Amino acid sequence: RLPRPFRTPFVVPPVARPVRTDATADYYRLTMRRARVQILPAPFGPTTIFGYNGITPGPTIRARRGRGTVVRQINALPQRHPVLGYRPTTSVHLHGSDSEPQYDGWADDVTQPGEYKDYYYPNDQDARTLWYHDHGVHHTAQNAYMGCAAQYHTSDDLEDSLPIPKGYWNGRPGHYDVPLMIRDAIFANSGELIYDDESESNLMGDVILVNGVPWPVMKVERRKYRFRILNASLSRGYRLALSSGDPMTIIGHDGGLAPAPVEVGSFRTGPAERYEVVIDFARRKVGERVVLRNLGVPNSREFASTQRIMRFDVVSDATDAANNSIPSVLNPGEGPYSPMNLQTSEAVRTRRWVFRRKNGLWTINGRTWDPARSDASVGLDDVEVWQFENRGGGWNHPVHVHLIDFRILDRNGKPPFAWERGPKDTAYVGENETVRVLARFGPRRGKYMMHCHNLVHEDHDMMTHFDVGPSGV
Ligand code: C2O
Ligand code: CU
Repeated sequence: RLPRPFRTPFVVPPVARPVRTDATADYYRLTMRRARVQILPAPFGPTTIFGYNGITPGPTIRARRGRGTVVRQINALPQRHPVLGYRPTTSVHLHGSDSEPQYDGWADDVTQPGEYKDYYYPNDQDARTLWYHDHGVHHTAQNAYMGCAAQYHTSDDLEDSLPIPKGYWNGRPGHYDVPLMIRDAIFANSGELIYDDESESNLMGDVILVNGVPWPVMKVERRKYRFRILNASLSRGYRLALSSGDPMTIIGHDGGLAPAPVEVGSFRTGPAERYEVVIDFARRKVGERVVLRNLGVPNSREFASTQRIMRFDVVSDATDAANNSIPSVLNPGEGPYSPMNLQTSEAVRTRRWVFRRKNGLWTINGRTWDPARSDASVGLDDVEVWQFENRGGGWNHPVHVHLIDFRILDRNGKPPFAWERGPKDTAYVGENETVRVLARFGPRRGKYMMHCHNLVHEDHDMMTHFDVGPSGV
């Protein structure tokens, strides 16, 4: 039996508070620990989670471009996972950041239970929605599934200057910028999470959690809201749409604001992708209810319960009319590492990456993760085309490249979908799709991972790394 949807009020994660600040950086301390939380309503019992500060999603970190962030990540998890029995070693990755390699969550740079590591983040890129999550080798999927995931937002002057919805949502007037982490999960009647990855292939849950609660209901005013939608599922893709038939306006992507807004009736999102979406509830009357629906994607197992995500109840006219528009130009993308103005003619080479299941292994170009082996050496600041090929078999592979932002050139030779025309770091590569992306590799040197972000595939070694250095080969 499943709980009934739309019984739980919408919540957002708390904003993390720095333990200290100085002229150049803010310092945080987060403790990964086990906690028991009531996620599902009675008669389900409490759920054992692993979370940053014992909550899931973890606290949202909000940073300002040009100021650094230092996070002490303390691994206070138990010596063994209570059911799965593995030792929860951790490595924290800030997904979407051009961090130095030693702070990038390298899979084999694990922190043992009882130890900590300090991470430094430069926050020198365009304002964006990032997320931090576990990346420990061979246990990323379990640790993230247990709850080790959270959002991280950066802001900058360009974003401030735009009249788009603002203010971290707290349920009170004047706050219309809303984090939305969507994931699926499987629960036992006891309330405990069940980790079933179907023989290391996919984890397809029948309960949808938004910001850690099942199918919530959010009260909204008749105006525009900005949603920072992150698909934090291990394996599930979604195709999101509104029951009202109203369009959604895509204003941002993994790498920050889009060049221009794009209206869509629905859009597809794979694990780890971020889409910033404006929904205008002024199209609805007070008293109306709008369901955020999931129309499903091929190769994600759909249940009746996974066709709904959450509900918006329109409860009043707008109480605040400020920042209620979407300019036709959002982000000129002028920085040297912004991919939107790059041209294919600037590329010095094309690399092919083939993702396939081979002899029971999840492989990239026929090989599995080996931290000692680099599969590409890219010259610092070189522009390259990377071609991701999913050779079928009933799987989607959301491909994530660390360090850089790319733009999607084409998918099976056709233009990218309307919703994915912006700076990205993760490309959903559906079955039998070939996706070409373009990026400038910098501004750091060193070794960076590239992998499938279906975390079950990643943990079973569908991961490689490349080097960025002075002499590309
Ligand atoms: Cu979101 Cu290498 O990960
Ligand atoms: Cu995959």
